[in-house]
Amino acid sequence: MTSLAISATGLRKAYGEKTVLDGVDLAVEEGTIFSLLGPNGAGKTTVVKILSTLVSAGPGSGPIRIGGHDLAGAPQSVRAAIGVTGQFSAVDGLITGEENMLLMADLQHLSRSEGRRVTGELLERFDLTDAAKKPASTYSGGMKRRLDIAMTLVGDPRIIFLDEPTTGLDPRSRHTMWGIIRELVDGGVTVLLTTQYLEEADELADRIAVLHDGKIAAEGTAAELKRIVPGGHVRLRFTDPGTYRTAVSALNGAAADDESLSLQIPSDGSQRALRGILDRLDTAGVEADELTVHTPDLDDVFFALTGGSAGIPAPTTPQTQTQEA
Ligand SMILES: Nc1ncnc2c1ncn2[C@@H]1O[C@H](COP(=O)(O)OP(=O)(O)OP(=O)(O)O)[C@@H](O)[C@H]1O
Ligand SMILES: [Mg+2]
Repeated sequence: MTSLAISATGLRKAYGEKTVLDGVDLAVEEGTIFSLLGPNGAGKTTVVKILSTLVSAGPGSGPIRIGGHDLAGAPQSVRAAIGVTGQFSAVDGLITGEENMLLMADLQHLSRSEGRRVTGELLERFDLTDAAKKPASTYSGGMKRRLDIAMTLVGDPRIIFLDEPTTGLDPRSRHTMWGIIRELVDGGVTVLLTTQYLEEADELADRIAVLHDGKIAAEGTAAELKRIVPGGHVRLRFTDPGTYRTAVSALNGAAADDESLSLQIPSDGSQRALRGILDRLDTAGVEADELTVHTPDLDDVFFALTGGSAGIPAPTTPQTQTQEA
């Protein structure tokens, strides 16, 4: 049996008439990255706030354990075990990055010399040494996020909640942040990460839970979730309407989109399957202008679960992908 850093059962929360969390179960193993994935308003921040003792769970919620402590019975112990970084940032813009860090060290009851040592180390580690003496309000978005995480690490928490740590960052800063998160986990820390980006969950998380309509719509590894949507597809695009029509009859059964002159054929993307398609086109004497192989990704999982649409049609059944006219 593995030990859980975070566990919650039947998490509920409502604000007035609005039910935000309607029975959410979470189990996060120690030393892993768990990603809570959901669109705006799904309730990600609400989960983080409840788990970090900032707001209370709604009536009827089951027990919550964080780092071995019962959240209802020992909130102080939970607070001592965790670090929270995110949408409700703790960075004070009026003071310098270094002062923010020292303040945090003070709050953590570190001695003055220990506080200075830890501050110096963390500022260095997060590439903020040069900016240490500048007011945090002058920092870029990426620098503020790094300072925020550095402040979280002052108390050496074993469990860290990161609420959308890369939202609004440019691709380079996002990759830097991913590196930082991986390093944390290499050091044995448990990370609960919320994100709106499927790519980010796919990249970082050991396990992913999709939050939708107040419930976990699906949970598993990225690979497990992708299996919910078996079978990718091959997409063929044509520029000449005549060629397109010939291809449509040659590949009867394919989903055809007359507007974009494209065809979509369910396929596992194997060489054999591709050869089959190309042979049929050859026999009909036509050639596609563009051929793309699409293997299912987390986007497909997400849209399959939540019924959205993303350029390509969401599968109507787990086995086939059909295009609605
Ligand atoms: N203090 C509050 N009072 C009333 N409603 C709230 C409060 N906090 C959150 N909500 C509502 O709860 C729902 C979930 O909000 P939450 O902030 O948890 O979503 P989120 O998944 O973090 O969204 P985002 O991706 O935009 O950060 C929203 O409909 C929000 O309006
Ligand atoms: Mg949020």
